[in-house]
Amino acid sequence: MKKEIPRLKEVFKDDFKIGAAVNKWTLHSAKDLVTTQFNSITAENEMKPEMLQPEEGEFDFDYSDQLVSFANEHNLGVRGHTLVWHNQCPNWMFKNESGQTVDRERLLKRMDQHIETVVSRYVNQVYSWDVVNEVIADEEDRFLRQSQWLELAGEEFIERAFHTANKADPNATLFYNDYNESDPIKRDKIYKLVKSLLEKKVPIHGVGMQAHWNIHTPSIEHIQQAIELYASLGLEVQITEMDLSVFSWEDKRTDLLAPTKEMLALQERRYEQMFNLFREYRDVISSVTFWGGADDYTWLSNFPVKGRKNWPFLFDEYFNPKQSFWKVVQKSEG
Ligand code: GLA
Repeated sequence: MKKEIPRLKEVFKDDFKIGAAVNKWTLHSAKDLVTTQFNSITAENEMKPEMLQPEEGEFDFDYSDQLVSFANEHNLGVRGHTLVWHNQCPNWMFKNESGQTVDRERLLKRMDQHIETVVSRYVNQVYSWDVVNEVIADEEDRFLRQSQWLELAGEEFIERAFHTANKADPNATLFYNDYNESDPIKRDKIYKLVKSLLEKKVPIHGVGMQAHWNIHTPSIEHIQQAIELYASLGLEVQITEMDLSVFSWEDKRTDLLAPTKEMLALQERRYEQMFNLFREYRDVISSVTFWGGADDYTWLSNFPVKGRKNWPFLFDEYFNPKQSFWKVVQKSEG
């Protein structure tokens, strides 16, 4: 019989929820890992607009319902991801019957309809929603990302999405979610956006830090400063899509069949430092979700280099705990 190992969800039970992103396949292949180690799940793709409403008015809830029933059956919370995003959004959303771009009112109405239908289906079953994902621009000289949402609806779509989601489920906490969230320039823009929403009394409750990081960057200091800044607005912070790539962004090498010793050592150290930091901020961090469960499957094996294996998690390809896992569960006193 396999030896029992500590469970993340018990180790962190007084700190924050601990989650994994799953999809229609890993829900089965990683079932034991997910149900023993975690107490929250997120759909990797199954709750995105193109999956839920591929054609106007034709919703397909098969996979997302399966995920939510799985969560209910195994006593897991669900983080909803995501309602409004420039990616994985069906094309029809932005077009009228003759194939031209749709007008502002109609687009906003479609957005409202999508949010109302999805959020009310899972009322009281999803504890937090990523309402708006990635609307801040990466370019230093732009504030909001150029997208069809912005171009056709104007920036008002952002606040309206939160109001609509809040009406549909007043108990779910609502998040703005983004990547490169610890980079000082982007961080300050996210702060500015969220602060302006709060000033307008928009029902937003937290900032989601995606945390697609690697074993070199960002620095712990930058992560800490970002948590502090977002929390200074009186908001919750959730780590929403964490993975620690073993490659730096510039490293495009493709010949590795396994992570090197040096990579794993750095990964252990970083995971330990990060979880120490998360615990230090347990009063503001309400959930920490990995963008997967174990190294057998990760989107990073196709990004940014297609077909290159990556090993970003606490569990290896065979679902065994890595040294990083032991570092994370060996909590120092206090
Ligand atoms: C972003 C999105 C996620 C996912 C990842 C890549 O971070 O928020 O839904 O698509 O990219 O897998």
